[in-house]
Amino acid sequence: MNLSLMDQFLWVIFPYITLTIFVLGHIYRYNTDQIGWSAKSSEIMEKRLLRWGSPLFHYGIIFAFFGHVAGVLIPKWMYELLMVPDELYHFGAVYIGGLVGVLALVGLVILIIRRMTVSRVRLFTERVDWITIIVLFLVVFQGVYVTVIRNFLVGEFDYRSTIGPWFRSLFTFSPNPELMVTVPLSFQIHVLLAFLLFAMWPFTRLVHLWSLPLEYLKRRYISYRSLNFLRSFKLSKNKQ
Ligand code: HEM
Repeated sequence: MNLSLMDQFLWVIFPYITLTIFVLGHIYRYNTDQIGWSAKSSEIMEKRLLRWGSPLFHYGIIFAFFGHVAGVLIPKWMYELLMVPDELYHFGAVYIGGLVGVLALVGLVILIIRRMTVSRVRLFTERVDWITIIVLFLVVFQGVYVTVIRNFLVGEFDYRSTIGPWFRSLFTFSPNPELMVTVPLSFQIHVLLAFLLFAMWPFTRLVHLWSLPLEYLKRRYISYRSLNFLRSFKLSKNKQ
């Protein structure tokens, strides 16, 4: 197939540029800004909306991640080998994938509303945070769109024979851009936005993902200490 320059750029050059920024950006940020390496919790400013939005978004997105492993990373032939019928895969992808996607989207919308309406949280939000939120919202929205709305309106699209092998071909350094040319635009947009997000990742609060992610779901957003605890801690330090 004769590929246009644009197709070469979108499905080979752009992914590699963004993945390189992702890797080098993390190394740079880790070496220059360990103190700022955090989600910069705002729990102290508002708790009610955070208590709903944060778990909905985080649990939704974690399960959506496993959905991506199942649909994009694991090749279709493995399902055939294990004799998993297409209908069963499709059911899981649409209903479970759709549900977790919607949970993540609802959580994200709650968090966005919180950031826009609670003035103390808004003041604490920098320009880079707004840009991150917008791109994150677009990626998640587009994911939910292709999984839920497009599936019911237009019908199923076999991304396990197109997007999946193309994505994996990038990591074996034998890119197969032809596979992406005929993919529906809505899927293409989701994937390109995701790569844009990968390039932004190291320069945003999203780096907190690499710091004990499971602890974040269980523990309080900020660990509070009583004044007495701090006084006794200081006394014991002075004695040493
Ligand atoms: C380049 C990497 C990515 C690829 C190739 C990709 C591909 C896909 C595909 C093919 C679907 C449709 C699944 C279906 O219809 O059953 C989907 C759905 C979805 N994607 Fe992605 N995606 C990527 C990155 C991301 C990222 C970074 C996020 C979020 C931060 C995300 C969030 C979602 C969500 C929420 C859904 C809907 C729920 C689900 O099916 O899991 N995706 N993605």
